[in-house]
Amino acid sequence: MAEFTLPKNSKIKKGKTYSAAEGVKNKKTFKVYRWEPDSGENPRVDSYEINLDNCGPMVLDALIYIKNDIDPTLTFRRSCREGICGSCAMNINGTNTLACTKYISDSNGDIPVYPLPHMEVQKDLVPDMTHFYAQYASIKPWIQTQTPPPPDKERLQSKEDREQLDGLYECILCACCSTSCPSYWWNSDRYLGPAILLQAYRWIADSRDENTGERLDDLEDPFKLYRCHTIMNCTNTCPKGLNPAKSIAEIKKLLVSRTI
Ligand code: SF4
Ligand code: SF4
Ligand code: FES
Repeated sequence: MAEFTLPKNSKIKKGKTYSAAEGVKNKKTFKVYRWEPDSGENPRVDSYEINLDNCGPMVLDALIYIKNDIDPTLTFRRSCREGICGSCAMNINGTNTLACTKYISDSNGDIPVYPLPHMEVQKDLVPDMTHFYAQYASIKPWIQTQTPPPPDKERLQSKEDREQLDGLYECILCACCSTSCPSYWWNSDRYLGPAILLQAYRWIADSRDENTGERLDDLEDPFKLYRCHTIMNCTNTCPKGLNPAKSIAEIKKLLVSRTI
């Protein structure tokens, strides 16, 4: 029978509160999801009130400040701090985005910080990306060719062919789009989701790739591709300003055009 309430051990409890020092005027509270898998306890939300004069302007700066100066047990991923690696993707103030490119000043009031939605959580703000990366591997994200390479040079592209990859090559596989997609929430075991479909289209659109037919054959599937219902959450949330829904539409168009 369908269960419409969270199981008891998933209910989020009120956590600890850390207040800024007395007299601090320029302060902000971050309400951060916490879950420690080995503790046997329910997830909780801890409140950290921080002095913004001691902290950089981005949400990631605040998380680093919390970890360094208030609570070293807080766990999150980050690497580049400039929107390139995709590892700091999380849900900030209700939107999936990158903590390192999200200004604290964009949000009024307290700022809730949660892991990416509908992913298994490994700890605190760290989602398990194993399935997402396996789906990425499944679309064979590399150039596949039938013909031998030119003996004396690389496989070249015209300027126009290279431009076909604009809006695609910039994807950093942060998963903000896929984890904002209701179809992906319910069917991620079989639906590839917007991030992986944008990547699939990136190789279909590459003039140097010679396996377009096989790539399309592989996507022609009621679940892998056609669970997209053009809800557009993906495009609205992408922190790099990309349009995964358009890539999905392009794949569908190619599938239709080869049948007529
Ligand atoms: S399309 Fe945008 S949101 Fe989706 S994985 Fe790529 S960069 Fe992230
Ligand atoms: S457009 Fe498709 S992929 Fe994007 S959020 Fe909607 S259903 Fe998901
Ligand atoms: S730390 Fe690399 S994208 Fe945010």
